[in-house]
Amino acid sequence: MNACIIAIDGPAGAGKSTVARKVAEKLGYLYLDTGAMYRVIALESIRQSVPLTDEALAALAKRTSIRFDLDGPGGNRVLSNGVDVTEAIRSPEVTRLVSQVAAVPGVRAEMVAQQQQIGRQKAVVLDGRDIGTVVFPEAEVKIFLTASVEERARRRWLEQTNKGQKASLEEISSDIAARDLADSTRETSPLRQADDAYLLDTSRLTPEEVVDAIIAYAKEHSHAV
Ligand code: CDP
Repeated sequence: MNACIIAIDGPAGAGKSTVARKVAEKLGYLYLDTGAMYRVIALESIRQSVPLTDEALAALAKRTSIRFDLDGPGGNRVLSNGVDVTEAIRSPEVTRLVSQVAAVPGVRAEMVAQQQQIGRQKAVVLDGRDIGTVVFPEAEVKIFLTASVEERARRRWLEQTNKGQKASLEEISSDIAARDLADSTRETSPLRQADDAYLLDTSRLTPEEVVDAIIAYAKEHSHAV
């Protein structure tokens, strides 16, 4: 039923979103950035001063409408209750809070249900932490992207510097390490490589090389791609 699912998991800064977007583009699939969904809930918790309890955050996840506008200005826009939050969800405040929000079981249940619904209707590339293990464990194509912490921090630093933002490599590096630890040690759906996922270390590869490797693997492992 889910033959057209490409699941890409891995830690922060491994290059998932850049690569997932390009793979989707090349194959004519939809791209679903599941991290953006958790970021929306973290942002709304700040904007609406929601207490950081499991109950309040789960209720927030239920009442928040998250939409992706693929044809918006500058490409893929993220909308929360109709408001464009594409830039706001990348703020350092949201980045620092998101792992805590994403660890709440009720928040995850809501996000996972929405992701599964999309995957049942369309051919889609999803990136996240639990796509190959929890959201679509039966996907034929699962990729686990990694890179050294130094390389991942360097990439994030470059990304922010290129956007004209001030960034400290040291701070980014420690934020990434903290998020990796929180994401891989939480009780519900921790970041983990699925047993049947293809492990791809991107430390020394260009994004194009990673995209090509994923497409080649997908063609080999799925009759539907
Ligand atoms: O892009 P980056 O690696 O910074 O993170 P992201 O993909 O935007 O995800 C932000 C956070 O959301 C992660 O650190 C996880 O805590 C959480 N997340 C998750 O728990 N499960 C997913 N499927 C995707 C993201």
